[in-house]
Amino acid sequence: MKTNANTIKQTIEKVINKENFTPLHAPIFEGNEIKYVTDCIESNFVSSVGEYVNRLEEMLVDYTGAKYAVVTVNGTAALHVSLILAGVESADEVLMPALTFIATANAVSYIGAMPHFVDVDEATLGIDAKKLDAYLSGISQMRDGECFNASSGKRIKAIVPMHTFGHPVDMDALNKVAEKYNITVVEDAAESLGSFYKGKHTGNHSLLAAVSFNGNKIITTGGGGAILTNDEELAKKAKHITTTAKIPHKWEFRHDMIGYNYRMPALNAALGVAQIEQMDKFVNDKRELALRYIEAFRGIEGVKVFQEPDYAKSNYWLNALVLAEGYEDMRDEILTITNDAGIMTRPIWTLMNKLEMFRDCPKMDLSVSESLEMRVVNIPSGAWL
Ligand SMILES: Cc1ncc(COP(=O)(O)O)c(C=O)c1O
Repeated sequence: MKTNANTIKQTIEKVINKENFTPLHAPIFEGNEIKYVTDCIESNFVSSVGEYVNRLEEMLVDYTGAKYAVVTVNGTAALHVSLILAGVESADEVLMPALTFIATANAVSYIGAMPHFVDVDEATLGIDAKKLDAYLSGISQMRDGECFNASSGKRIKAIVPMHTFGHPVDMDALNKVAEKYNITVVEDAAESLGSFYKGKHTGNHSLLAAVSFNGNKIITTGGGGAILTNDEELAKKAKHITTTAKIPHKWEFRHDMIGYNYRMPALNAALGVAQIEQMDKFVNDKRELALRYIEAFRGIEGVKVFQEPDYAKSNYWLNALVLAEGYEDMRDEILTITNDAGIMTRPIWTLMNKLEMFRDCPKMDLSVSESLEMRVVNIPSGAWL
């Protein structure tokens, strides 16, 4: 019998012990959250100066293996500052996947720079390095050791690989291309805390990386993010620029550049410390849920659960069904039938180049992204499931 939307819904139901409403994600507060947040309130240090802010940074360093972590008000702010520190300027172009969440393109736009959209590899859902290399060899021009887009005349300063749904991009292949064209790499690791590429945590494979602790992420601080880097100088600058660029002094207010009020408040960091203590359990539970989905969908024609690439150990932050080519028509039926039944499902993001504000941005052939846009359905992925 040919697979239909109902088969898909029933298969999801077998895995998730359906309740009245099953969201895609929900935070889990089963550790020291109340204790630490209460402690933070009682300390009176609820804003950006406080023990919990430093503690969360130390725990991120321990967990990710990055030498430095600087926590921020959200992941978008972390990405914005990372791009500034990577040297992106308003006249530049920044390469990024068209298949990403809006924040990647927004962060580039905050600088006044231009997103330049590239295609992804269906096997990883991340930037296709080989296709990128072929593209750049056709459209770019090296001048004084820097890469320029020959048709727009703009410098291509940076590239932002995004680890989609927590699955690591093939960073070695990407870094090789970036090196060839002297393009700085900044990872959008918003979704990939707990994901490892060839044994090394994501966010450690580039100059700077941004992580998110939004309420839907694997751990949450309510809202929050972090910049990761292995470069001491950049870490110092990141802290400076996210704390209004104030020169430390006992009483004077002096600032040496235009900075940002982007530092994470202690109240949020207190939540984060309690959350990161439970990181191993969250990752294990997510991985186990993914396995159950993979098993349940095995043998169902026309659909598979996206699996981590061979080189990766993924956090499986968000599970995705990938419909086979020819099954695109089923996508909207699946979305309707599952959402009507209280099972939250979502299509993947609308491609960035299709959004009004990015319509005129340069782009390469995006055929894989365009095809995936019609074939991916995200399914409930909470660690409690
Ligand atoms: C790929 C990606 N980039 C950036 C962000 C931005 O993070 P935040 O929501 O914390 O600003 C998110 C998450 O929301 C994301 O999924």
